[in-house]
Parts: sequence; C-alpha cells; structure tokens
Amino acid sequence: MKSICVISGGGSGMGLEAAKILGRKHKIILMGRTVAKLENAVKQLRDAGIEAEAYPADASHRESVRQLAAYASQQGEVKVLIHAAGVSPHMTDAQKIFEINAIGTMNMDEEFVKIMPEGSCILNVSSMSAYMLPADKAPKQIYKLSLSDAEAFRLAVNQMLSQVPPEQQTGTAYTLSKNFVLWYTARMAVKFGKQGIRIVSISPGTFKTPMGEIEGKEAASFAERGALGRMGEPEEIAEMMAFMVSDECSYLTGVDILYDGGSVAALQAMREDRAQ
Ligand SMILES: NC(=O)c1ccc[n+]([C@@H]2O[C@H](COP(=O)([O-])OP(=O)(O)OC[C@H]3O[C@@H](n4cnc5c(N)ncnc54)[C@H](OP(=O)(O)O)[C@@H]3O)[C@@H](O)[C@H]2O)c1
Repeated sequence: MKSICVISGGGSGMGLEAAKILGRKHKIILMGRTVAKLENAVKQLRDAGIEAEAYPADASHRESVRQLAAYASQQGEVKVLIHAAGVSPHMTDAQKIFEINAIGTMNMDEEFVKIMPEGSCILNVSSMSAYMLPADKAPKQIYKLSLSDAEAFRLAVNQMLSQVPPEQQTGTAYTLSKNFVLWYTARMAVKFGKQGIRIVSISPGTFKTPMGEIEGKEAASFAERGALGRMGEPEEIAEMMAFMVSDECSYLTGVDILYDGGSVAALQAMREDRAQ
C-alpha cells in the first residue's frame, strides 16, 4: 500500500504543483474548501497517472481537520503533510486571516502529529512577509499562549489587531500570522523530534498563483526589485517543497527556508545602503 501525502490548499497554486511531484511516490489527498476546485485538481493529477482524491475541509475548523486526519489515517500511513492552505491581505478581513493562517496551522499540525508515524514530515507554508517582523519585535509571549490556551492566544492577537489603524489591519494580520508560523514550526519540531517527526516551514516570495494574482501589481513590483528581478513559478517552489519533506532531508527540522528569489536580501541591502 502506498503511503499518504495530505496537501491542504492543494486545489490550486503551489500545493497542487507539489502534488504533481509528490504523487510519484505517495497517494495524494487534496484538501480545501471549494469542492469544484478540488475535483478539477484531482482530475489533473489522475490524468497524469497519479493516485489522488479530494477531501473538502476547512483548516480553521478543528473538527473538520480532526475528521480529515482520521480519514487520511484510514487510507494508509500518512508520511507527509503539506499545509499550504492560507489567505492573503486582499482576500478577507484581519480576523479571518488570523484564524485561517495561524489557528489553521495549529489545527493541522496538532491533529496530524497524532496520526503520523516515525520518519514522517510536516511542511507549513509561511511567507516572506514573516521576515518583515524583526525577531526582537515578534510578540513571543503572545505566541506562547498558543501552546497552552488557544482561546487566550486568539483574544490577545485580536486585542493587538484592534489597536492597528483599520487600513493596516489585514496586512498586519497576515505578517503576524505568517511570523507565528515560523515560531510555531520551530516549537513543534522540538516537541515532536524525538518521535521521529520532522516539522519545517517554507516562506515563499511572490509566486504566479491565484493568490499571487490577487495581490497584484504591488506584489509583482516587490518581486521585480528582488535579487532575481522576477516572480517565481509555482513549479520552482514545488520542487523545494518536495525535497524538504523527502527522506533526503532527514536531518532538517525546526527551520524555515526563505524561498523568495532574493526579495528580502534586496530589501535589506537597500535599507543598509540608505542608512549609510
Ligand atoms: N503566491 C504567493 O505569492 C505567496 C506568497 C507568500 C506566501 N504564500 C503562501 O502560500 C500558500 C499557498 O498559496 P498559493 O500561492 O498557492 O495560493 P492559492 O492558489 O490561493 O492557494 C491557497 C489555497 O488555500 C485554500 N484555502 C484557503 N483557506 C482555506 C481554509 N480555511 N481551509 C482549507 N483550505 C483553504 C484555497 O482553497 P479554498 O479557498 O477553496 O479553500 C486555495 O486552494 C498560502 O499559505 C500563502 O499564504 C503565497
């Protein structure tokens, strides 16, 4: 029986591209909220000879994720979870961004570590936006609440967001939620490493996916100012995602890979040059 790879947000974008590579080795379960999108993605995979199925669920709803994990474990050994589901600043309001990107990551990781065997790997998808919050500015005391009391964590973040000017709230919620994903990935890796479960994250720059298109010209021009001077193709990041969860990376855990075509490096270089 083939091992299972679950991909949240796998109905489109980089999750779907990763499925095309990981499907060579694993049976794929694509998860997302929109049934038609998932069915279309499953058809693409099956046409390419990949064993795949759709499982509609919402990462921000714990019970929905619990049922997904239970279903996946009945299909075989779940060796890989790619948690790519996420929403960006122009898609919804600040609270929803936080619920899907931050609480959604907790829901996925916490339910899947219960059913994943030794030698398995979770890859959380963050964003280069996470790097816009310097390490000493990240509210780690608030992040720590997520480990013991999700409701207190939610309340503290919503309190923080309510103090931000309305026009900056969705951007702040996105940066904060993705910065949290880096912190949380490292903490979860420490907690589950001795069970033989690796937990890593990847921070994409600007990619040509449905989300990249919604974020529009501003995102594109940021990419153009990066070291490589262009947006990324989803196929490019899919290769890195597949490599990170593979057995070739068996000593990689608790870290983030910034996969952004040098966007953050170019921004830092510009800031340093200006400060001189
Ligand atoms: N593209 C970029 O430039 C870029 C840059 C930095 C970071 N990222 C991150 O990369 C990840 C993948 O994004 P993408 O670029 O591939 O865009 P995408 O094509 O929009 O993929 C995101 C997927 O997440 C799903 N999703 C959203 N909310 C969900 C929820 N609550 N539960 C389950 N599924 C949900 C969406 O499907 P439904 O709406 O049907 O659920 C969609 O298929 C995201 O986490 C994003 O934040 C992307």
